[in-house]
Amino acid sequence: MGQLDGRVALITGGARGQGAVEAKLFISEGARVVIADVRHDEGRAVAAELGDAVTYLPLDVTKSTEWNAAIAAVMDKHGRLDVLVNNAGLYRPKLIEESTEEDFLAMFSVNQFGVYLGMKAALPAMRQNVPGKSGSSIINISSVAGFRGAPGSCAYAGTKFAVRGMTKVAALEFAPWSIRVNSVHPGIIDTDMISIMGDERHDAIVAATPLQRAGTSDDVAKLVLFLASDASSFITGSEFVVDGGLNTGTAVGPRRID
Ligand SMILES: NC(=O)c1ccc[n+]([C@@H]2O[C@H](COP(=O)([O-])OP(=O)(O)OC[C@H]3O[C@@H](n4cnc5c(N)ncnc54)[C@H](O)[C@@H]3O)[C@@H](O)[C@H]2O)c1
Repeated sequence: MGQLDGRVALITGGARGQGAVEAKLFISEGARVVIADVRHDEGRAVAAELGDAVTYLPLDVTKSTEWNAAIAAVMDKHGRLDVLVNNAGLYRPKLIEESTEEDFLAMFSVNQFGVYLGMKAALPAMRQNVPGKSGSSIINISSVAGFRGAPGSCAYAGTKFAVRGMTKVAALEFAPWSIRVNSVHPGIIDTDMISIMGDERHDAIVAATPLQRAGTSDDVAKLVLFLASDASSFITGSEFVVDGGLNTGTAVGPRRID
């Protein structure tokens, strides 16, 4: 028996990276998955590769009309929505003085406003599930950048801090329908998103990660599966860090005392 048998999940930003890997893990646990993105060719290719349990839907998460159409399409096709993973994200690191208003608003629109629109659009569909029985779950992908500052991440960190707050508010508002809402905070994860940071910065972050490696999309997907499934049925409004220990503090001095 799969952990997500009979469940229907919508994963934004599912055309590549962590979202695509989450889709693959979810279907291996019995779910039907809709991946939604603005990368239409990549999204359709991922859906074709993963087979009949996955469909691709064009969705720009910054547009409420597109959200409403996407939820309607999921309900038309599957008749229910159990899991929403607000995973779509944009990362454009720049120092404050070098960044533009356009950069700031682009990250705000996808990483923060898109999460708000997603939770709002999914609520009426998830409210139709039987409370306490069918385990609706919303998983908002934040970051370790939602806990700490780093040079060049003013807009990005701002949005990821905001996701923590919005998650807690939604957890309280949606609890009467047993809809759980939690946030996930990955550390450095090797996907296309971080190619923009360059090798030197990447390697410095890995060096500051106590487990001494970058994470994989699979590392994150296993946590997202836990939060999507009944294994986490008494967990809501919480923050889950998957970062090899990066957020624990800065590693100084010897790593072992023998
Ligand atoms: N990779 C990391 O190191 C890391 C660390 C912490 C948090 N995260 C977060 O994890 C999530 C997934 O990132 P990833 O590493 O898989 O990166 P990625 O760039 O591979 O995937 C992000 C996806 O979001 C999609 N997207 C962007 N704007 C969109 C929009 N307006 N509408 C719909 N889809 C849109 C992109 O097309 C892309 O497919 C993001 O929220 C990111 O901020 C990533």
